[in-house]
Amino acid sequence: MNAIFQRRSIRKYEDKPVPDEAVRQILRAGMAAPSAGNAQEWEFILCRDKEKMAKIMEMHEYAFALKTAPLAVLVCGNAQREVYPGEDWWVQDCAAATQNMLVEAADLGIGSLWLGIHPIEKRIRMMREIFRLPEHIHPFSLVALGYASKEKEPIDRYEPGWVHEEQF
Ligand SMILES: Cc1cc2nc3c(=O)[nH]c(=O)nc-3n(C[C@H](O)[C@H](O)[C@H](O)COP(=O)(O)O)c2cc1C
Repeated sequence: MNAIFQRRSIRKYEDKPVPDEAVRQILRAGMAAPSAGNAQEWEFILCRDKEKMAKIMEMHEYAFALKTAPLAVLVCGNAQREVYPGEDWWVQDCAAATQNMLVEAADLGIGSLWLGIHPIEKRIRMMREIFRLPEHIHPFSLVALGYASKEKEPIDRYEPGWVHEEQF
């Protein structure tokens, strides 16, 4: 539970790779997420190539964290794995997988950042091009991973006014 509150968006990383074992564990956490009809409509593309990251930073105005991130994982939905075709549950499946990855990273002492891709058309197009995605693979989020250059405080955003009993 602590990892949920410790997780913060990290936008500056140390020049130090994420160990393979930790990467596997973070991916395992992603794949442990709940999914509609247990369809597990996700795919994960690992990117360590700084040239690709530079291209992404050119077109994504909020991706400067990639300047220092040693690793980014593109989380994609695979429409061919849908059990309810055309209903696009992959969006929610990928969101659950992304969040699981961030929390697992925090638990391992690894910093992370969720970079939004879906539903911004320009970003989707660029990801398709850079990572050579076929039609049925939908880029959803890019997760930057690495060791934080500076720790951030855990956060509690509990807002009692946003909780409603029985009706709004
Ligand atoms: C769907 C989504 C898209 C996001 N996209 C970006 C992004 O493109 N660039 C970025 O720096 N942060 C991005 N963030 C991170 C948010 O800015 C961050 O979660 C928020 O400011 C709260 O801070 P915290 O994560 O440290 O608690 C995104 C978060 C979500 C959930």
